[in-house]
Parts: sequence; structure tokens; C-alpha cells
Amino acid sequence: MNLKPHIAVVGATGAVGVEMIKTLEKRRFPVGKLTLLASARSVGKHLAFRGESVAVAELKPDSFKGVDIALFSAGGSISKQFAPIAAQAGCVVVDNSSAFRMDDAVPLVIPEINAADIKWHRGIIANPNCTTAIALMALYPLHQAFLVKRMFASSYQAVSGTGAKAIEELRRQIAQTVAGQPVTKEVYPHQIAFNVLPHVDVFLPSGYTKEEMKMENEGRKIMHHPTFRASVTCVRVPVYRAHSIAISAEFEKPVSVDAALEVLRKAPGLDVVDAPAKNEYPLPLYVSERYNCAVGRLRRDCAMDNGLCFWVSGDQLLKGAALNAVQIAEEFLK
Ligand SMILES: NC(=O)c1ccc[n+]([C@@H]2O[C@H](COP(=O)([O-])OP(=O)(O)OC[C@H]3O[C@@H](n4cnc5c(N)ncnc54)[C@H](OP(=O)(O)O)[C@@H]3O)[C@@H](O)[C@H]2O)c1
Repeated sequence: MNLKPHIAVVGATGAVGVEMIKTLEKRRFPVGKLTLLASARSVGKHLAFRGESVAVAELKPDSFKGVDIALFSAGGSISKQFAPIAAQAGCVVVDNSSAFRMDDAVPLVIPEINAADIKWHRGIIANPNCTTAIALMALYPLHQAFLVKRMFASSYQAVSGTGAKAIEELRRQIAQTVAGQPVTKEVYPHQIAFNVLPHVDVFLPSGYTKEEMKMENEGRKIMHHPTFRASVTCVRVPVYRAHSIAISAEFEKPVSVDAALEVLRKAPGLDVVDAPAKNEYPLPLYVSERYNCAVGRLRRDCAMDNGLCFWVSGDQLLKGAALNAVQIAEEFLK
């Protein structure tokens, strides 16, 4: 790999794309050249990178000539169409969509957990679902110590997880409500301002949503744990940024709060914020724009044997998307 790689960001104008550009700059990724790609609608726009203004170009099949690494975040259908073209052109694709995550020929990677899987890539590496990534940052170290069997969880997911249009929808609906005007809806099927929606992604015949099943399916692949089970309810909340997940996990081995805290304090990319007597626990507002996820509210689960309850918050635009993708790209330079 070129030590000063040519990087392309596909979906550069979106909620994740913008964070990718910022993350490359903040982490001083040695970008030799930066190509920003989006739809024809964005041609003429410029985005700042290292104090310079970079023009956005339209994504086309010939966009990847000379590109070393392409970070994709323009949705599943664009990834399905263009990621194989980019890989064919010789660049490594890190894809944020769900298009390739469960493809046996594509590694699905959280560098703190399974960086070694990057080695067997054939041109495309998938970034996990954002809620799954944040949950696993705390669950995986516990699994290593106590062997997780199954978990029950509810998520509290920020609107930026749906993209730039959903951030605008929450802003608009708050302003409309405060002004006493009728609330208009474009992105979600119901008003999201001053509401919570137990509906993230599409419903499956089982009654779960696709998002809810990603925790089990992607969790199995990332943790190399084919019998892991997860029953999840995903909920969209009127928070701009950062997802939280309330988890009850059951382990094979006996687990105590002290032993779990000791494990979590050593876990990479994770902060323990657990002083309930001082009202200290992870909060989406405080983990926003931070690289580390945070875990707290640890307690023995009173309804199961060897069970532990905990609460994880993390910036899904970073650890759930842009940061994780840039960390994967960093692995190539090691
Ligand atoms: N948001 C999150 O927290 C998050 C987390 C993990 C993964 N993801 C995944 O990342 C992807 C992007 O999410 P997002 O939240 O950033 O969405 P977004 O804010 O809606 O941005 C979508 C991006 O895709 C571009 N795009 C759309 N149609 C295109 C086309 N035909 N050709 C080229 N570019 C096109 C858009 O360009 P224009 O501005 O020109 O339309 C924009 O840059 C999705 O696959 C999503 O599932 C998102």
C-alpha cells in the first residue's frame, strides 16, 4: 500500500461522509490525494480538508482510477453497484452500508475486536451496523472473559443514524411544535420530535426489524461466535447524535460487577462512566463527537443466572461509521 494513499470518499456530502473527511484530518491520516464523490446534485459543492477547499465530483464508474482506498457511505444500492467496480480498479473498499456485511467473502470488522479478519479481504471490507458496533465495544471484552450466551437489549437511536435529511426533520418538527404550527413528516412515518418510535429499518415476517436482527447476525460474525443469540428492540429517539443501548447479557461463566468493571476498564476504545451515586453514567450528549464509547449502569441482572445489565452510549457517526472505517484504513498502513 502507498504510504501516502489516494483516498476517495463516496457519499462525501452525507452525514457519515462529512465525518469521514473530518476524521481523516483529525487523525492525521497520511492522505496523499483526496477525491470527494457524491451524486450529480452535489457537483459544484466544495468541502474543507486540511484548510483547502476540495470540489465534489459526481460518482461514475471511472471515478476510481489511481485510488488506493475508497470509503463508501452512499447507501446499499450505490455500494452494490460501485464497490465491485472500485475493487476491480484495484482499490480497497471500506463499505458502511449493509450491502456486503453478511457476505462470506467479505470481512466485517471492528478493529478492536477482529482486526485480523482484514487480512483475508478480496477488495471489500464491511463496516458493521452502528448500533451493533457500539454494543459490541462493551459486550466483546465481557464475552472474552465470561463467554456470552445471549442478550436482550433495547436501543435508543439518534436521528443522524438515518442521515442528513432526518437531522433536518427533527430540527423542523421541533421548530414547528414550538411555533404551534402543524408538524410535517418526510423521513419517518410518525412525528419524531417529542416522541419515540419503536421502528428502525423494515419489518421482517418474524416481527423483528432488519436492524434488530443485525445485532445477532453481525455479532456472530464479528465475535466469531456462531451460537450467540440476541433479542433486540430498536427505538428511534429525538436525539441528534449518538446511540445508546440498554443490554442484559447472560454468560456461561459466573460474573460479578467488580470482575466486569475490571475487564471493561482495560477494554480499548471504551470508557467506564459508572458512578450512579454522583449521577454519572454514559449519555449521548457527552459521547457525541468522541472516539470512545462509554459503558455504565453495571449491575447483576436479577432475572437471570450469570447475568449482567449495562448501558452503552457511543457516537454512531464515529465508532458506528466514520471512525471505524478510518481505523480499518489505518490497519493497511501498519
Ligand atoms: N448515519 C449513520 O449513523 C450511519 C452509520 C453507519 C452506517 N451508515 C450507512 O452509511 C450510508 C450513508 O448514510 P448517511 O447517514 O451518511 O446518509 P445521508 O446523510 O443521506 O448521505 C447520503 C450520501 O450518499 C450520496 N448519494 C446518494 N445518492 C447517490 C448517488 N446516486 N450517487 C452518488 N452518491 C449518492 C449523497 O450525495 P448527495 O448529497 O449528492 O445526495 C450523500 O453524500 C448508508 O448506507 C447508511 O446505512 C450510516
